[in-house]
Amino acid sequence: ACGGGDGGSEGGGDDGSLVIGFAQVGAESAWRTANSTSIQEAAKAAGHDLKFVDGQQDQEKQIAAVRDFINQQVDVIVLAPVVETGWTDVLQEAEDAGIPVVLADRGVEAADEALYVTRLGSDFAEEGRKAGTWAAETFAADADGTRILELQGTTGSAPANDRKAGFFEVLDAEGLNYEIVDSQSGNFTAEEGKAVMETFITTHGLDGIDLLYAHNDEMGLGAIQAIEEAGKVPGTDIQIIIVDGSTAGFQAGVDGKLNYIVECNPAFGPQLMDVLESVVAGDEVEKFTPVEEGVFDATQFEAELPNRQF
Ligand code: AHR
Repeated sequence: ACGGGDGGSEGGGDDGSLVIGFAQVGAESAWRTANSTSIQEAAKAAGHDLKFVDGQQDQEKQIAAVRDFINQQVDVIVLAPVVETGWTDVLQEAEDAGIPVVLADRGVEAADEALYVTRLGSDFAEEGRKAGTWAAETFAADADGTRILELQGTTGSAPANDRKAGFFEVLDAEGLNYEIVDSQSGNFTAEEGKAVMETFITTHGLDGIDLLYAHNDEMGLGAIQAIEEAGKVPGTDIQIIIVDGSTAGFQAGVDGKLNYIVECNPAFGPQLMDVLESVVAGDEVEKFTPVEEGVFDATQFEAELPNRQF
């Protein structure tokens, strides 16, 4: 639409090209980097002009980016909201300016549902339920109770909220006898995941801890380092679940250092371009489109490792 397009109210250039403003979360994980690359490459392949802003895991930076996109009168705004709340004002401003907003990856609180067109991304609650299903089966015979540590993602983010809820929903439904020994945020990074795990170890020790549920690969990998430095064997002395499924995550699985991987798929750039084109064209779209994702246990790590794309 830029540089000579008519910029008509329906959006898009004469040649169908779009100006897209994309407020990304940050670069906190291999997943995130792969997601940015997928979206940047897909926009380029489709001939769209993508204005990319890295929010550095800071909501204020993302809000400023969205306001900037509104001022630039882009055709469509893509927002990957770092947390679920606090978006009402800026989403309302986009609506008032007649610029559609599409959520990529993460969601916003239900109260803001009317202020975006659609969300394309993972079903985080389902990811949590998948992790919970494996844990409930694995520890079903654990008569004296399963003692669990949880490394949560960024506080207030959709994946942290929903992965937690889905996981414990299944443990409760299955009647597992469990105890949450500790649960803290590691902000989806390896450094913070490691630091929180060190605190867990100092506070609780590792003897008698059965399971670590890490909401993403980076935190799980950081925790594995902390466990090794404490002289314990990750994957054996303590079982570990991670979410994402990066190459590094699968390699740790092949090395026997973790036990279950719930996939979170970042490669939805091409699908996102289709959604954006439909939205700008004014077509009806579903409110939520989940991306396809699998699960992998120890019997599958080695065969799957070469297939990983990030
Ligand atoms: O929102 C998706 C999550 O964000 C991924 O699981 C995590 O690695 C990323 O930081």
